[in-house]
Amino acid sequence: MGPREIRPGIFWVGVNDRTTDLFEGMWPLPHGVSYNAYLVVGQRIALIDSVKDHYAEELLRNIAQVVDPARISYLVVNHMEPDHSGALPLLRRVAPSAEILATPAALPMLARFYGFTTGVRAVADGETLDLGGKILSFHHIPFVHWPETMATYEGTQRVLFPCDAFGGFRALDGALFADEVDFALYEGEVLRYFSNIVGMQSQAVLRAIEKLKALAIEVIAPSHGLIWRKAPERLVELYARWARNEGEPGVALVFGSMYGETRKMAEAVARGVREGGLPVRVLDAGRVHVSFLIQEAWRCRGLILGSPTYDTGIFPPVEHFLRLLERKRLRNRVVGIFGSYGWRGGARAKLEERVRELGWELVGSVEFAGAPTAEELRQGQELGRAVAERLRTLAGVGSRA
Ligand code: FEO
Repeated sequence: MGPREIRPGIFWVGVNDRTTDLFEGMWPLPHGVSYNAYLVVGQRIALIDSVKDHYAEELLRNIAQVVDPARISYLVVNHMEPDHSGALPLLRRVAPSAEILATPAALPMLARFYGFTTGVRAVADGETLDLGGKILSFHHIPFVHWPETMATYEGTQRVLFPCDAFGGFRALDGALFADEVDFALYEGEVLRYFSNIVGMQSQAVLRAIEKLKALAIEVIAPSHGLIWRKAPERLVELYARWARNEGEPGVALVFGSMYGETRKMAEAVARGVREGGLPVRVLDAGRVHVSFLIQEAWRCRGLILGSPTYDTGIFPPVEHFLRLLERKRLRNRVVGIFGSYGWRGGARAKLEERVRELGWELVGSVEFAGAPTAEELRQGQELGRAVAERLRTLAGVGSRA
């Protein structure tokens, strides 16, 4: 897209990545992702974050349209994950006198990833750096997303650069600012990014939000996705709500099915949820990538799981989904279960066991053998309705009975 001045003397010089198929080698990127890097130009010049190594030359071309890259005095490394640090080797070659600034916890990573042991300085939490006309300060926010993470703040323009925090998937489609686009088109990809990448660190996200409240912030400029220069508190509240694991009143129904019988039950349960007055998304775990299943589980407080019995246990795609929700530490879910089997049960009991282990509220479960009968489908419908009723009660919207 080329560089763009986002505030006087502060330039976006990042790149869109529309060719990486899997973020972190596992999360699909159907709409791409951006790596946002920022030049802060005072009497001295700082570059905040960089990009994945594959895009280092493009970053350099963007920088060169604003300043001579050799003039950069500081390379600020908010976060060491290579989607933000991968261009450092090239930047070091073109700006050999630039000092790398990072948290103390980042220093051994700089040595291990890139062999940088000189020209590197640890910055203290709250430390300031006067660039001459621009003033940076550094605020450690460990575990958003790795332990070495920090946010950088530019005080004269009141811009926060929080790196992964407040970021999202989806490349920037010709616009940098959230107020230039229909954010509804982006929100799902922000949630998918949050739930897939930083959801496990929700407590750290909440701590960071509390800590950064001390700063007067007018612009939030994350290192993935849109920049917020109007009402950035809207984005902060979205992130806080997701980090609190609140979930909207609605249901993500995730099922697996080998020959279609469990799918029939999924349809009946979904109808029950609708009759109970709530939206439901039905997702086939064998066909929809788990990245999107996690996104919907994070969006909705209600989660209904359906599985045939496979190798005496849970259908593997459903089990994998549950395992990742455990890894992501999703809490506070209201759950229904349906299971099926050919000659001996197993999936329902194991799903119940997993739900208990995860500390979620189990509203009810049904199980059937072979093909579901009309009576069993009615029970499934009732299950959907019961989950919806429970969610409506919890949301304080009353019963439809
Ligand atoms: Fe966008 Fe944790 O790196």
